[in-house]
Amino acid sequence: MTGSMKGLVLAGGKGSRLRPLTATGAKQLMPVANKPVLFYALEQLVEAGITEIGIVTGETADQVRAVVGDGSAFGARIAYLPQEAPLGLAHAIRTGERWLDDSPFCMFLGDNFLMGGIADHARQFVDSGARGQILLKRVHDPSAFGVAVLDESGRVVRLVEKPKERISDLAVIGVYFFGPEIHQITPTLTPSARGELEITDAIQGLIDAGYEVQSSLIAAEWIDTGKKDDMLEANRLVLGSIQRRIDGTVDEASTLVGPVIVEAGARVLGSTVRGPAVIGAGATLVDSYVGPFTAIGPHCVLDGCEIEHSIVLDHSTVRHVGRRIADSLIGREVVIETSPLKPQAIRLMVGDHSVVDVV
Ligand code: TTP
Repeated sequence: MTGSMKGLVLAGGKGSRLRPLTATGAKQLMPVANKPVLFYALEQLVEAGITEIGIVTGETADQVRAVVGDGSAFGARIAYLPQEAPLGLAHAIRTGERWLDDSPFCMFLGDNFLMGGIADHARQFVDSGARGQILLKRVHDPSAFGVAVLDESGRVVRLVEKPKERISDLAVIGVYFFGPEIHQITPTLTPSARGELEITDAIQGLIDAGYEVQSSLIAAEWIDTGKKDDMLEANRLVLGSIQRRIDGTVDEASTLVGPVIVEAGARVLGSTVRGPAVIGAGATLVDSYVGPFTAIGPHCVLDGCEIEHSIVLDHSTVRHVGRRIADSLIGREVVIETSPLKPQAIRLMVGDHSVVDVV
């Protein structure tokens, strides 16, 4: 029975790796196939029967609250748990301690994207009687992750953060299950070199205190959507399984190929869309080409341009750009256009930490 289990979703943090897009917006609200990445975590918790969900928030609390609401849209009851500062994943558990009470819980990092859901893992945790369970993914470069060393039964013996030597290739991903025993450990932790209460230390503390921590190896795709290419990859995965749905307008001069979603109020005029791709509500495409694995956000305008394998956030305009745009993540209310002004030059107004590749 996963019914008594609660969910703790982490939506605070800094989001420094996705600046400037996260300078003003929560990174957990970055869209994957036009849906905030955080929504996939909420949906997967509910699908696993976990409907009491606490969301840990930081500076972007108001935005998260405005978009997620009271949880009824997800079939959940959501409580908001403000974290005083992004002091680490184990600190987020301390933030939620009182709300969690003595319930077992699934902690889900709000920017982690996992194909296939968590229902089987939640069941396994409940059935095993272990006091913790982590999900592991085999990775090529373990030195970039927290990794787990297991005994032959799959029980976790040791965790090592960013190992210099190759002691394990099993990376710990951002979905964890804990019993209330974890609250005996988190108050005893001290900040790491980067000033955070580390989740690896909390889990190691659980093991050292004699509690059983189990693991399950996942075969499904998992993405920590911290950077641009990770966002594009998550977008590619979700779009890879969409079905064609046309709720907007497509004129006779346009061609749609393969799985394409045209949301209500969107207009496709004299354009070609080769799926998988999604055109957001109220967006307008004129004389344009949208190629595979592209998500055009709500109320965007694309005129005389070509774009593929990209994400464009809402209310942006791309007009008469002479070259195809690819592998790009374009923020909200951005304007990209060719200018008739002389001298012919590239004129930019680009936020801090942006990357522009010009050919
Ligand atoms: P991270 O990606 O580890 O941290 P971050 O958000 O500070 O990111 P960046 O490296 O880009 O600056 O966090 C994982 C998730 O947990 C993410 O959704 C943010 C959230 N989080 C909290 O809610 N509280 C915290 O104290 C920390 C560190 C992260």
